[in-house]
Amino acid sequence: MTSKNSNNTRIEAPRPQFEVASEVRITPAKSGESEVLRLNSELEEKAAELVIANKELVLQNEEKEKRAAELVIANKELVFQNEEKEKRAAELVVANKELVFQNEEKEKRAAELVIANKELVFQNEEKGKRAAELVVARDAAEAGNRAKTIFLANMSHELRTPMNGVMGMINVVLRRATDPKQLDLLKKCKDAAQRMVNIINDIIDFSKAEADRLPLEEKNFSLSQMIDDAIAMQDITAEAKGLNLTREIPATFPDQLSGDAFRLRQILLNLLGNACKFSDQGTITVRVNAVEQDGDSVLARIEVEDQGIGISPEQQAMLFQAFTQVDGSMTRKYGGSGLGLIICKRLANLMGGDVGMESQEGRGSTFWATVRLKPVKASEVGV
Ligand SMILES: Nc1ncnc2c1ncn2[C@@H]1O[C@H](COP(=O)(O)OP(=O)(O)O)[C@@H](O)[C@H]1O
Ligand SMILES: [Mg+2]
Repeated sequence: MTSKNSNNTRIEAPRPQFEVASEVRITPAKSGESEVLRLNSELEEKAAELVIANKELVLQNEEKEKRAAELVIANKELVFQNEEKEKRAAELVVANKELVFQNEEKEKRAAELVIANKELVFQNEEKGKRAAELVVARDAAEAGNRAKTIFLANMSHELRTPMNGVMGMINVVLRRATDPKQLDLLKKCKDAAQRMVNIINDIIDFSKAEADRLPLEEKNFSLSQMIDDAIAMQDITAEAKGLNLTREIPATFPDQLSGDAFRLRQILLNLLGNACKFSDQGTITVRVNAVEQDGDSVLARIEVEDQGIGISPEQQAMLFQAFTQVDGSMTRKYGGSGLGLIICKRLANLMGGDVGMESQEGRGSTFWATVRLKPVKASEVGV
């Protein structure tokens, strides 16, 4: 079907996309062809509208399909998220159970700790009680100890007076005796009495040291002289045993010193006496060294080295303690109070020093003491 527009060009009527003819039955009007034409153009208009409507529907359809596709994707996404959430929820359930379990464990542990704590508090109270009891016991022991020390000091003083009498009388009788047998017995008697006096003196010094009643004196003295005196006092014993006594003092060591020479000699006599007592051969050397020295004072180390019986490492651990002799059987052989070294230690400590030893069993020992002394200036010597 065609029509002409104002430019006389032919215009093709839009072809319907569906079978219009089957739905619109046109019965040609009897009134003529114009009526047919009118109807035809109406139909064409209708058809054009339908085409537009169809396009619109197609478009809407496509939109809906797009939307549906989007919805499918969104749905899938939601399903995925849902699954994830479910997984997460499941995990949370597991984690929650774990937490609940841990919580229960913690509560159990807390309950156990409360019990343990109560037990500790109880034990602590018991310990406190025990400590208080121990303090009481210690105080009682200390009081007992003090009483014993005082008793020891008093008794040794009491013993010393009659012993001095005995010694004096032995000397008197010794001077008068002529019978060789009597003289021999008297000398043995004097030896025994002297040993007794030495032990009594040790006990007096020890008890004084225990009670902190060992006052120091300060006097000028010659160190070499003091050492020679001490060696001379051991000479007879040393000679009898075939021991050789020597001394080594560096020329640079100050000889004129100020300090308690009497107590220093006591230390040296103890160490020398031990060296002689526990050596059967060899040389005993008294050696002096300066550990430190400044303008005002010198820390002198005085050591006594012997080549005697020596002391085993186990026995060394027992030294410098009161009434300790490393071997009880030796006490009978060598005699002594077992107080010499502890008195040396107390005296050396009082003089700002200490004592110590090195020894090898069967080869010999070196016992040393350090004491702080003041070098006397040349201008003050002899004052
Ligand atoms: N030079 C030494 N060699 C071996 N043993 C020693 C020496 N000096 C000390 N000892 C040991 O140390 C112990 C304690 O000495 P000390 O306190 O002077 O007491 P004591 O001389 O009365 O026995 C001695 O009995 C001895 O066993
Ligand atoms: Mg001794």
